[in-house]
Amino acid sequence: MENRATETAEPVLAVSDLNVEILGEAGSFPVVSEMSLSVRSGETVCIVGESGCGKSMTALSLLRLLPDSARIASGSVRIHGEDFLAMDQRHVEDFRGDKIAMIFQEPLTALNPVLTIGEQIAESVRQHRKAGKREAFARAVKCLEMVQMPDPERRARQYPHELSGGMRQRAMIALALACEPKIIVADEPTTALDVTVQAQILGLISDLQKRLGTAQILITHDLGVVAEIADRVIVMYAGRRVEECSVYELFDNPIHPYTIGLMGAVPHRGDPNAASERLTDIPGTVPPLWDLPKGCAFAPRCPGASARCLEERPPFIEKKPGHFAACWEHDNV
Ligand SMILES: Nc1ncnc2c1ncn2[C@@H]1O[C@H](COP(=O)(O)OP(=O)(O)OP(=O)(O)O)[C@@H](O)[C@H]1O
Ligand code: SF4
Ligand SMILES: [Mg+2]
Repeated sequence: MENRATETAEPVLAVSDLNVEILGEAGSFPVVSEMSLSVRSGETVCIVGESGCGKSMTALSLLRLLPDSARIASGSVRIHGEDFLAMDQRHVEDFRGDKIAMIFQEPLTALNPVLTIGEQIAESVRQHRKAGKREAFARAVKCLEMVQMPDPERRARQYPHELSGGMRQRAMIALALACEPKIIVADEPTTALDVTVQAQILGLISDLQKRLGTAQILITHDLGVVAEIADRVIVMYAGRRVEECSVYELFDNPIHPYTIGLMGAVPHRGDPNAASERLTDIPGTVPPLWDLPKGCAFAPRCPGASARCLEERPPFIEKKPGHFAACWEHDNV
C-alpha cells in the first residue's frame, strides 16, 4: 500500500519523550519510557507488542485519560501544534471527540452507564457541532447504523448494560467517530467483533481517512491488519520502543530480535493468508516493569544476547534512513 501521507506535512499529533509511571504502594515505576511518535494527516501508525508492554498506557496518555494510579512524569503531547498537556480542562474537553478521539480496548471505560447510547452520542455531537436535540439524536442513530448496529433506532434508546459486548464495542466506536475527529487513537478496536464486522469498522475509519485526512494510531495484535493498513509501525517492548520503520521495512527487513520473534510464523506481507495471523509467542516472559534487567530488557529472551547486552541498555537510534531500532548487535546495518 502506498503511503498516503505526505512526507513533508506537519504532524497533527507529536509526542516527544513521554514518560509515564505507575504509582505503586512501594513507590513509582515506569510503564512507558522515552516514547516519541508523530502521525500526519491521513497516515496510520500501528503500535504492536506483547500484553503489558505499555500500549494502552501510551494511548491513554495521548488523551490525558490515564487512571488515577498512573501519571505522566514528563514529556510533551502536541495536537495541531498546541501543547495538550498544558491545556486547561475546558479546552481539553473541546479537543476530545472533535480533534482527537479514542476507541478504547474496554468499551465500558468509555460509555456512561446512566445515559442511553443515543443520548451519549447526541451529547457529543451537540458539544462540538451546532445541532439541535432532534438533529443530534438522528446523527447518533446514523452513526450506529454506520457501525452495523442491528436495529439502531431501538438500540439508541438503550443503556450500555442492556447491550451485548459486541454491541457495546460498536456503540463506543460510533461515539468516537460521531464528530469525525482529525485524529483517532484506536486501542484494539475490533477484538470483540467478528471478522466481517472488524473489516467493516476498519473500512469505515479508512473512509474517514480518505475523506477528511484523519490520522490514525492503531494498537493491534493482528499483524494481518498491520500489513493491510499501516504506513509506519512502532514495536514496543517493556514500556519502550524497540523498533520503528515503514510497514514495508518491518515485514521485509526487521532488525530487532524481538520483532523477528513476533513475526516468526507470519507469512510475508502481501500473502493473502496473512490476514488471520497474530503475533507469535516468544519463549520466556516479559520482565516485570518494576524490576527490569540492567541492560537490554529483552536480553533474558534474546538468542543473540552478549555480555554487553546484559550490562548496557541499547539506545534507540536510526540504523538506516527511516528505520530505528534499539539493539547492540545491529550497529553496522
Ligand atoms: N490501572 C492500572 N493500574 C496500575 N497498573 C496498571 C494499570 N493498567 C495497566 N497497568 C500496568 O501497566 C503496564 C502496561 O499496561 P498496558 O495496559 O499499557 O499494556 P498493553 O500493552 O496495553 O497490554 P495489552 O496488550 O494486554 O492490552 C502493565 O504492567 C500493567 O500491569
Ligand atoms: S541488545 Fe542484545 S539482548 Fe537486546 S535485542 Fe539486541 S542482541 Fe538481543
Ligand atoms: Mg492494552
